[in-house]
Amino acid sequence: MRRVYASGRLHSSCKLNLLLRNFSVATGRWMWWGDVPVGPPDAILGITEAFNKDEKANKINLGVGAYRDDDGKPYVLPVVRKVEERLMERRLNKEYIGISGIPDFTRASARLALGKENEQISNGLTVTVQTLSGTGALRVGAAFIKRFFPFNKVVYLPSPSWGNHLPIFRDSGLEVKTYRYYDADTCGFDFSGMMKDLENIPEKSVVLLHACAHNPTGVDPKQDQWQEMSHLMKSRKLLPFFDMAYQGFASGCVDRDAFAVHQFVRDGHEILLAQSFAKNMGLYGERVGHLTLVCESSDQVKAVESQLKIIIRPMYSSPPKHGALIASEILNTSELYDQWLLELKGLAERIINMRHKLMENLENEGSTRSWMHVKDQIGMFCYTGLDQNQCERLVREFSVYLTKDGRISMAGVTTKNVGDLAHAIHTVTK
Ligand code: LMR
Repeated sequence: MRRVYASGRLHSSCKLNLLLRNFSVATGRWMWWGDVPVGPPDAILGITEAFNKDEKANKINLGVGAYRDDDGKPYVLPVVRKVEERLMERRLNKEYIGISGIPDFTRASARLALGKENEQISNGLTVTVQTLSGTGALRVGAAFIKRFFPFNKVVYLPSPSWGNHLPIFRDSGLEVKTYRYYDADTCGFDFSGMMKDLENIPEKSVVLLHACAHNPTGVDPKQDQWQEMSHLMKSRKLLPFFDMAYQGFASGCVDRDAFAVHQFVRDGHEILLAQSFAKNMGLYGERVGHLTLVCESSDQVKAVESQLKIIIRPMYSSPPKHGALIASEILNTSELYDQWLLELKGLAERIINMRHKLMENLENEGSTRSWMHVKDQIGMFCYTGLDQNQCERLVREFSVYLTKDGRISMAGVTTKNVGDLAHAIHTVTK
């Protein structure tokens, strides 16, 4: 262990350790990185690395939440292809865009999230900056909270939550705690547990909410439950930070999926909102998203916007252009927008269909367990209820790759592999 004493000098045994670890006797040279330990693979993206190494022909990757077609192949939406062709024809330059992104994109994406008729947008009470997808939006939002939120710099996450939430907030210097969300006994939403925890969270703290299609559980509150949560959080002065990574993916309808966001804003919450276009436009690698804040006055808007730019500039200067241009064209052209909504609905429907097929196949296998939750949960994921040992058996014996918490990406299930998958799940659960 490296220990520095008040004098600033290293204790001699520590000095020796340091020397042993960072000096290569073989080359006679100091090593800068001799102390760096090997870290674990990412809990989600590491699954793809392991999957790629597996040589079995019938392997199935249900790890990362990325849409696949019925042949298990990555899928580019036809509307995205169409826009890309139009952009190519325009032979645009490659100049930097502004620190806060492309204004046509940020305006349209804020309207998509908050609703066409949103009063706060019409009254100029929102700030939107383009970000590196949802992760970037969360990270910029977290940095902003760390620097400017004047009260409890603690973020409360649902338990469980997306695996990247904890490191995003912790690495931004915020304390992270959890509130109850999932009821393992019913494989459903623990509404009373969540409400009890919201009653006890210290006032003026930040609460992270999944706007729809909760990741990893696929379990969402009902509309009247959102309304109750909104009222309670308002009375307890809790700041809602929405993560909306799946708008349109849960129900197939962008407005229905944004119900919670619309309700909270209508109820007067000054929310933060991180939105991603990775899933609903399939723009994964293009890194398209935005962070929106609702403020109380136009003075606040001006100040917040200026400070977000100051946070972004030393992080990555300005966001990437290509994907945001695609999203902007889609959101701002009515014919493309309508086409996108139809295609998005198609993605959601294929996943819903696979939920039914998986449940049917499990029943046909003779499983006596209840698999209703496979059908009832929504969005891209199914939280199967499999324990770690069963998950490991799926990988080892069947080359079915999933995260250790039992989450499977329904987007990786196809009419061709659903039978094998059901057989594998039944074998490890009987
Ligand atoms: C997931 O949860 O699988 C996706 O959100 C992809 C990711 O970056 O983790």
